[in-house]
Amino acid sequence: MCGIIGYIGKNNPNDILINGLYNLEYRGYDSSGIAICDNKNIEIIKSIGRVSNLEEKIKKESRLNASYGIAHTRWATNGEASLKNAHPHKVGRVTIVHNGIIENADILKENLIKKGYTFNSETDSEVVAALLDSYLKELDVLVAINKLTKSLVGSYAIGIIIDNYNGIYAIRKDSPLILGIGLNEYFLASDITAIIKYTNKYILLDEGEIAFLTYNDYKIYKNKKIITKEILIADNIDTVNEKKDYSHYMLKEIMEEPIVLQKLIKKYSNSINQEKLNLSDYKEIDIVACGSAMYAGFIGQNLFEEYANIKTNVYPASEYRYKNKIYNDNTLVILISQSGETADTIAAMREVKRLGLPTLAIVNNKDSTIAREADIKILTEAGVEVAVATTKAYILQVSVLALMAYITACKKNLLKESINYNDFEKVPILLKEVIENNNQYKNIAEELYKDERCFYIGRGIDYAMCMEASLKLKEVSYIHSEAYQAGELKHGSISLIEKNTKIISIITDKKLKEKTISNIKEVEARGAKVIIVTTKDLDEFEDHLKIVVPTTNKFMNSILVIATLQLLAYYVALKRNCDIDKPRNLAKSVTVE
Ligand code: G6P
Repeated sequence: MCGIIGYIGKNNPNDILINGLYNLEYRGYDSSGIAICDNKNIEIIKSIGRVSNLEEKIKKESRLNASYGIAHTRWATNGEASLKNAHPHKVGRVTIVHNGIIENADILKENLIKKGYTFNSETDSEVVAALLDSYLKELDVLVAINKLTKSLVGSYAIGIIIDNYNGIYAIRKDSPLILGIGLNEYFLASDITAIIKYTNKYILLDEGEIAFLTYNDYKIYKNKKIITKEILIADNIDTVNEKKDYSHYMLKEIMEEPIVLQKLIKKYSNSINQEKLNLSDYKEIDIVACGSAMYAGFIGQNLFEEYANIKTNVYPASEYRYKNKIYNDNTLVILISQSGETADTIAAMREVKRLGLPTLAIVNNKDSTIAREADIKILTEAGVEVAVATTKAYILQVSVLALMAYITACKKNLLKESINYNDFEKVPILLKEVIENNNQYKNIAEELYKDERCFYIGRGIDYAMCMEASLKLKEVSYIHSEAYQAGELKHGSISLIEKNTKIISIITDKKLKEKTISNIKEVEARGAKVIIVTTKDLDEFEDHLKIVVPTTNKFMNSILVIATLQLLAYYVALKRNCDIDKPRNLAKSVTVE
């Protein structure tokens, strides 16, 4: 959570910092602030709410002709979203912006209070500023920052300005931070999208390193020595994030699904790349992830067990990291993450690696911690996703899992019917047809948008789809929605069904169709209004409101179904005037536990 940007160079920092914050707003949007410096004076301006509020305030209040600065957009963890808790925090000579959580902040704070420090905010970040200030009273800057890194327990990416030291210092541990290299100008950012307008050259800062950016140089120190690091070049796919003519990023990103899917399917059309998705060496798979990425995992579980004959378990990373792990021989742990920076997924991965198990990451951000640390990485290459609710990245996570199940089933000779790779190549075209036919979703949104609760029901893989469809609806529209195994509803939650309760039922699995229909009858008998989502070959639902998608192969049906339900969630949220790209309380990348 939280986004960081810093700038030093020949240009006025204000515009660059604000532009960067707009691009980082997906990481948190409770409050924001900047600290700018003219080599002598420092000016701090903060604002509650969106970056646009901060921009207005800077226009009215900023007096300093500054030449460098740091800025921050916050997703509140320690302390409510308020002016006093917004970053930057200045204590003594030290001004900082911080992303992450300092777990030992309370103990550090107690000691600092004993030394005479007072605190204005409830944040752990202000403690970091005070601690560094206290060290600077006795030590040189580099030694003091180094001591700071040794004193902090938790995760952090920190940009630091110290009075009388013209430049920006930076450190990180378990929260992302890069250095951008321009022509006589240097940047600090949580990710490349924040600075891509100015440079595509960047360096990944690692744990234990201290960066110092000045007007005409940058240095990276490790163990008190200057080190040289590789300068990376960002390509288009990682950076293009303009909204174009779309009303929302969410809609734009759904509309991009056919293109990114086509690229993925093409990439795995050759046998060398296919081998990377072959899991036939493994007897058991644990899939570990959070949110939508975990729900993608449930689709994978159904496909691996049904077609590739591999026992598969799915866990939320926040649970998995602390559970007693029981493994069989040849267990593979698959981590799924769009950002590759989700704190719980990273912690689970490190724990699994410590235990000596092989890890495979399905990840979108190629520079992320998960991409860098997993034994094997499969990139989804969905491009930048800006809308907080994931759409295209989820579709590609499911597609990678579907291709893995298919390729493994082929290698193990398990497929009962002939499915050619050609069948996969047709899916992006069908997906395009499905998402462009958006009137039907708008019509169903009309039915749904006034309700305050609904259910998604299905069995087997259809239930796995329900979980994601339901999450999408509640994330963006705030309708309380629950996903249920269709056969399980009657064991309690059916008590919530009353006249006109909306139930969205997914039916794509032929062998479970009749069973789900029985469950539909049960809820209809109690007054529910059922909307059916099904494939063309199974459609017999003349008397229902319905969404019918083309039938593809069994591995890819979920792609078409989920895309339609992403659009349904979008149109319901639109009717309810919700802040679709930045739903309340959420952040796209959850870098705290
Ligand atoms: C947050 C986002 C979700 C996402 C989850 C996991 O909660 O709001 O959309 O599914 O994190 O994120 P990851 O980057 O690991 O896929």
